[in-house]
Amino acid sequence: MSDALIAVKPEIAAKARIDAAKYRAMYEQAEKDPDGFWRGEMNRIAWMKAPTKIKNVDFHGDVSIKWFEDGVLNASVSCLDRHLATRGDQVAIIWEGDDPKSDAKVTYRQLHAQVCRLTNGLRELGVKKGDRVCIYLPMIVEAAVAMLACARIGAIHSIVFGGFSPDSLASRIQDSECSVLITADQGRRGGRTVPLKTNADEALKQCPSIRHVVVAKNTGGDVPMQAGRDIWWSDLCDRQKDTAEPEPMGAEDPLFILYTSGSTGKPKGVLHTTGGYMVWASFTHENVFDYRDGEIYWCTADVGWVTGHTYIVYGPLANGATTLMFEGVPNYPSVSRFWEVIDKHQVNIFYTAPTAIRALMREGEAPVKKTSRKSLRILGSVGEPINPEAWLWYYRNVGDERCPIVDTWWQTETGGILISPLPGAIAQKPGSATLPLPGVKPALVDGEGKIIEGAAEGNLVLLDSWPGQMRTIYGDHARFGQTYFSTFKGMYFTGDGARRDADGYYWITGRVDDVINVSGHRMGTAEIESALVAHPKVAEAAVVGMPHDLKGQGIYCYVTLKSGEEPTEALRKELVAWVRKEIGPIAAPDAIQWAPGLPKTRSGKIMRRILRKIAANETDGLGDTSTLADPTVVQDLIENRVG
Ligand code: PRX
Repeated sequence: MSDALIAVKPEIAAKARIDAAKYRAMYEQAEKDPDGFWRGEMNRIAWMKAPTKIKNVDFHGDVSIKWFEDGVLNASVSCLDRHLATRGDQVAIIWEGDDPKSDAKVTYRQLHAQVCRLTNGLRELGVKKGDRVCIYLPMIVEAAVAMLACARIGAIHSIVFGGFSPDSLASRIQDSECSVLITADQGRRGGRTVPLKTNADEALKQCPSIRHVVVAKNTGGDVPMQAGRDIWWSDLCDRQKDTAEPEPMGAEDPLFILYTSGSTGKPKGVLHTTGGYMVWASFTHENVFDYRDGEIYWCTADVGWVTGHTYIVYGPLANGATTLMFEGVPNYPSVSRFWEVIDKHQVNIFYTAPTAIRALMREGEAPVKKTSRKSLRILGSVGEPINPEAWLWYYRNVGDERCPIVDTWWQTETGGILISPLPGAIAQKPGSATLPLPGVKPALVDGEGKIIEGAAEGNLVLLDSWPGQMRTIYGDHARFGQTYFSTFKGMYFTGDGARRDADGYYWITGRVDDVINVSGHRMGTAEIESALVAHPKVAEAAVVGMPHDLKGQGIYCYVTLKSGEEPTEALRKELVAWVRKEIGPIAAPDAIQWAPGLPKTRSGKIMRRILRKIAANETDGLGDTSTLADPTVVQDLIENRVG
């Protein structure tokens, strides 16, 4: 059933910006003549000086990626100033609070004024082009204002998701030596408060680079302010002018850093630059969602993740859209919340994650069916593979079989969507991200990097660059080359595995490296392992992903205690709490198994393949275990599997 083709509806194709023939023509042109194609697309954003050079990319050697390199622009102008004449009084952001009684609408003119005030405020604090500003905010309008004010100054923003711990916040601030932190007193989620300022204070004990902290008043909760360092947002901004000059930025000047987990070491600072990223954000938002002027568009992500960057803020605002920002969670105050918000604000395009769909699917159809959802036109999915069952539930119950689903595959590194159906052009298959967008050249390679043609399964790589691609890892260009371009020489390696069917459709099978995807949140197993071994009673730990009905993957930890330590239930709970505190609640282990020993090769390498199989309870096919130093370890682990 999952391979069933759901044809493009004639009424959608008739009106769509891109139909099947146009998609093919665009794809061909972008492949044959990338310079010509992107020269034709680049004016979707505002340039102070139009670029004459389009693409300049080398995936070999030191790896150099440049797009539109002699162009000059400011991202905030594309998102704000140029809309003032035509849509100044149109709503730019609809804010829907955690509490269903609280909401707000901000027009483009108002947003422009707020951004300019903060721009002036930050400039008064000494922030200038190239400085790094950390943003640790909940889903409030100030988050978008802060991003755009940084962009206006040319300061590089680095957003840290509000669910990360003080330690995680501190290490991200330290890595890019941010000079200013923008936070709020507290956040709100599902009726509870999140102690952002308290977390920030804790983090800042380890962050000498921070000179100022700007604090938005959100809940009004009582928080200490440190004289000379901390300033309330309103005290800083209320006295400022509501106009501010945008800094002229080179197309390849950085726009933001966003930390993401990899297979090894600390999270990497993924760096995106200005021109190419903005073109890609606008191009993909308009075409994948077939966005029409006047529509209400809602992406449920958090601005702490790349989806929030590209598809709540930069893409929609560049396209003059009305973008909805939601502070809350899908199940508060009830499991109808998403659908109620859709009706309340007459949302036309809705973009969410499979984990949310699976959780809501469990609640049955009634909470959906009691709402109208007639305004919906397009549905989207992102963050992890969507299982066909969840896809079909979403299609039938939420979209009433009327709305195409765009299953969008992409990554923090790719800046925006790379593989996705286009609603008017590409027939869908439940569970498949389908075909690449114009300008995207995916391929499957085997373990040696040999390209595999036709229907096959392999490692997913990209053979050429697209404008929204990350340019480097902040402060470590060598690691950039090493991480993405050395596994398969001259190709960008995604870290994902995929299958391609006879129609050329891509089915993402998940990560093939030591990264796990928990509810669409990307975690490095190495980070969780180092948090565990930092506990005084832990000698060694190995972490793998395991299949999980709701989260997609759960976190399964094998823990070896130091000799003399007792494996008690109390200690198990303590370790779960420890990881939550070290990294954040999103990294809380789902299972901890006490492991007297870990399966290792004679050279001491942990055989994760075996650990993954045991966690998944697939112990029949453990494969070759002949290289194990001590095969008895495996039997013990199988017998004492948790869950
Ligand atoms: O494994 C893929 C999965 O999420 C990874 C990227 O995670 P992150 O950088 O946090 O960005 C998430 C939002 C773009 C990918 O390597 N992934 C993302 N979207 C999909 C997906 N897997 C399958 N289908 C998708 N639509």
